[in-house]
Amino acid sequence: MKHIQISIDKTFGFISEDAVKSYEKAALSANKALIEATCKGNDFLGWVGLPTSITKSELQEVEETARLLREECEVVVVIGIGGSYLGAKAVIDALSSSFDWLQKERKAPVVVYAGQNIGEDYMYELQSLLQNKKFGIVVISKSGTTTEPAIAFRLLKDQLEKQQGKESAQKLIVAITDKQRGALRTLATQEGYKTFVIEDNIGGRYSVLSPVGLLPIAIAGFDIEKLVAGAVEMEKNTSEEVAFSENISAIYAATRNELYKSGKKIEILANFHPKLHYVSEWWKQLYGESEGKENKGIFPASVDFTTDLHSMGQWIQEGERTIFETVISVEKSNYNVQVPANDENLDGLNFLAGKRIDEVNKMAELGTMLAHVDGGVPNIKILVPELNEFYLGELIYFFEKACGISGLLLDVNPFNQPGVEAYKKNMFALLEKPGYEEATKEIQQRIK
Ligand code: PA5
Repeated sequence: MKHIQISIDKTFGFISEDAVKSYEKAALSANKALIEATCKGNDFLGWVGLPTSITKSELQEVEETARLLREECEVVVVIGIGGSYLGAKAVIDALSSSFDWLQKERKAPVVVYAGQNIGEDYMYELQSLLQNKKFGIVVISKSGTTTEPAIAFRLLKDQLEKQQGKESAQKLIVAITDKQRGALRTLATQEGYKTFVIEDNIGGRYSVLSPVGLLPIAIAGFDIEKLVAGAVEMEKNTSEEVAFSENISAIYAATRNELYKSGKKIEILANFHPKLHYVSEWWKQLYGESEGKENKGIFPASVDFTTDLHSMGQWIQEGERTIFETVISVEKSNYNVQVPANDENLDGLNFLAGKRIDEVNKMAELGTMLAHVDGGVPNIKILVPELNEFYLGELIYFFEKACGISGLLLDVNPFNQPGVEAYKKNMFALLEKPGYEEATKEIQQRIK
């Protein structure tokens, strides 16, 4: 059976193979520290053993809840922000038809998202769409007090209760939150919602393989057992027993740290598969929040190729040489579409007649990689055999484990996010939240 692979050959010449190998001891001991929970942030390592520790009955409970919502709803709104929605959206988008919302014959409800922004028009449009529709809500918030999802939940809970009546609404709302604490836990208990727990030792951005990601993914009709099986495989393939040369998470972590040391401050995650856009968004949160602290850390950026070759391609080819590229390459397409021949050949494309679109895409990928390397951009390639639940499970765990190792190599705590509080403090002061009186006075002076 094939597995996800990594190729770092196209970084050599910018950094040396020996320099990457020199991380062996540190990367393996970081991996060991993650597994044995002896590193910085060791109270947030519940994700490390999550794939192998999820039980069949836990998965069945998620599947059963998903089945009930699938039967009852045309639309399910997943309310959450950051780690509370990005993983689910990444997997659902990667596995869904690109035109999913237009499909008439549906096996599963349309999954839409709320609480990931504070857009008034977004909320108005969502509420209009949901009018007269049978919808359900999965509200996900570990803290239960995050402003964006809390506002969205207030509005949509009211709407659901008005449309369905309070009793039916209670059956159409599922809350995923802290085991005991927080506003959402209290409300869920009061209202008798079905709930799932976000364990204390699993941070938002590492939670996709818990009910946070699994429930929405199952509602969308995808096989969460296969997703978890892929993650289990990667958990085993990055375990303590595995040598550095075989541990692709350790190799990725070592390579990107060496590139960073050599002056490559920005990593661009590129894909040649439009369905992977949100995998990159998920990855940006994972790496950005985990590493960007203490005035250090690679800036994680992303592009979708070939689309962005017609915009950001110029910068990548000839802009400041502080970047490296990591390309997620999907080996096999799921469908077969060929370029047709044309008698007139006005566009000059008959040389491609009979070729699969994916063959053209693969040559674009190879040509881009060579051009970017020639232009001074080191290239890491992550090869995914095909887009399905199993390989997405492998990919998620691969990136999570690599992120933990990489953050430890950088000597930061990869599991906290103290910096995300600064904007909240100012926003609450500006909105005159009770308890923020001093901060309100100060900020009003500043903006006078
Ligand atoms: O990575 C994180 O922990 C954060 O980005 C959270 O996921 C995000 O802020 C949402 O938090 P909560 O689930 O508490 O609403």
